[in-house]
Amino acid sequence: MMGVVFLLWSAALETGMKEVDDQHKELFRQIDTLLDAGNANRFREVLDFLDGYIVKHFTDEQKLHARSKYPKASEHKAYHDNYVVIFRKLKAKYIAEGPSAVNNMEINKSVAGWLKEHILVHDREFAAYYKSL
Ligand SMILES: [Fe+2]
Repeated sequence: MMGVVFLLWSAALETGMKEVDDQHKELFRQIDTLLDAGNANRFREVLDFLDGYIVKHFTDEQKLHARSKYPKASEHKAYHDNYVVIFRKLKAKYIAEGPSAVNNMEINKSVAGWLKEHILVHDREFAAYYKSL
């Protein structure tokens, strides 16, 4: 089954900050790879990669918030921390169950869906602040 998430990437998701956008695109590519994972080993491998990449990406964004004295930095970090908790709960379930159509639907809705919403609302809000400096 072909992944569909990366195809749904759109200009609306661009923040205009190249490093941030490149990392967001990589996240969607990896989620796409996860949706395409044909067996439990590959599924687990991509989940492990995503786990590390999500944390790296959030840490990089938070450094940018700190450097630019973003007033909503701690609120934004709370969204990140919450997502890591949600992702890890889902990851444990996915590792236990392996790839399936039902899990793919949830990955689209919860893993990719949260990211899209977060980028559209919170990362774009930061981008507007950053550009106004
Ligand atoms: Fe963010």
